[in-house]
Amino acid sequence: MNLAIFGATGQVGQVMAQILIERDFPVDSIRFFASSRSKGKLIEFNGKQIEVEDAEEGAFSGIDIALFSCGAAASKIYAPRVAKEGGIVIDNSSCFRQDPKVPLVVPEVNSYALNEIPLNIVANPNCTTMVAMPPLKILHDLWNLKKMVATSFQAVSGSGKAGVDELSDQLTNYQGNLRDLAFDGTLVNFGKPNKFPKIAALNVIPMAGSFLEDGSNITSEEQKLINESRKILDLPDLIVSATCTRVSVMTGHSLSLTLTFEKNTDVKVAIEALSNKDYIVLDNVPTPQTAAGKDPTYVGRIRHATDNLNELSMFVVGDNLRKGAALNAVQIAEALVDKKFKKI
Ligand SMILES: NC(=O)c1ccc[n+]([C@@H]2O[C@H](COP(=O)([O-])OP(=O)(O)OC[C@H]3O[C@@H](n4cnc5c(N)ncnc54)[C@H](OP(=O)(O)O)[C@@H]3O)[C@@H](O)[C@H]2O)c1
Repeated sequence: MNLAIFGATGQVGQVMAQILIERDFPVDSIRFFASSRSKGKLIEFNGKQIEVEDAEEGAFSGIDIALFSCGAAASKIYAPRVAKEGGIVIDNSSCFRQDPKVPLVVPEVNSYALNEIPLNIVANPNCTTMVAMPPLKILHDLWNLKKMVATSFQAVSGSGKAGVDELSDQLTNYQGNLRDLAFDGTLVNFGKPNKFPKIAALNVIPMAGSFLEDGSNITSEEQKLINESRKILDLPDLIVSATCTRVSVMTGHSLSLTLTFEKNTDVKVAIEALSNKDYIVLDNVPTPQTAAGKDPTYVGRIRHATDNLNELSMFVVGDNLRKGAALNAVQIAEALVDKKFKKI
């Protein structure tokens, strides 16, 4: 396979390269693309130094599979160009996810969607949606999912390197005594927020992404969770109520889920079904620090939170850079190789 990574200098791009090596993906050649800022930088891959190319200057013939994690604006420009040259693009941005001609894939859930790739582009889901999908599919197959009420607690690395830098700087360069925050939230000076609308350090921001322009007070992250859950699970009528928050966590997105099914549920049956999968770890008190750097989705607190037996509540956590982005993209590439995909 002749591969390319777009956004190779970013957090997700670097994890993609690492995961290709970890999983022994069949790589004959690899090219690294980023913006003009990174042109000429050297990145090591399997003992070789590879020079980063400016995507704007790139010629894309000969690429079999291109893993994209360079943001929606760059994907919109470069993904169709790679696809036109015959390469299959696996795109991490939101750019193509709702296009009916672009499969949106979590291999454990809907790999059948890879049977047709009419534009040579496959979309990788948003990192928050991704955490919920593997356990949801298993439970949906048991009892038929009708409604999901979800509150996310999203890590700052979900907003790129700039998000990690902002929280890290705030936690390092604050002025005051952190203990004072116990009595008055204004007594410590963390500087001005930039990437996030409020201070990320030791805080919870009830807004992730940007507000939609339709006056609904729904954010872009919430909209993605609604739309992408419906498309991946192939449940266009699924009722989804989403609240996405940003929390003082470096990596690891968490979700509190309350699920309503057509049929009555059973906690023991849910636990048994989830424990049979190697991509899920049952941990009754899962945290982002447990999940960061790991591949599985961690599921805990499975319970009937109300008397309604057709409802089930739980807490799920996953690494937003690995399964939430890079790992899933590589797994899609692996599924394509297994299928001996035909390019258009
Ligand atoms: N972080 C997550 O958890 C996550 C999860 C799912 C999906 N994603 C998607 O993946 C993308 C990257 O996330 P990240 O966390 O890796 O961000 P990041 O660390 O900020 O990296 C961004 C990457 O995109 C490149 N880039 C930016 N503008 C470009 C352009 N015009 N042309 C070519 N390359 C360009 C950057 O190159 P330079 O270094 O040259 O600037 C860098 O390699 C996000 O925008 C999002 O769409 C992220």
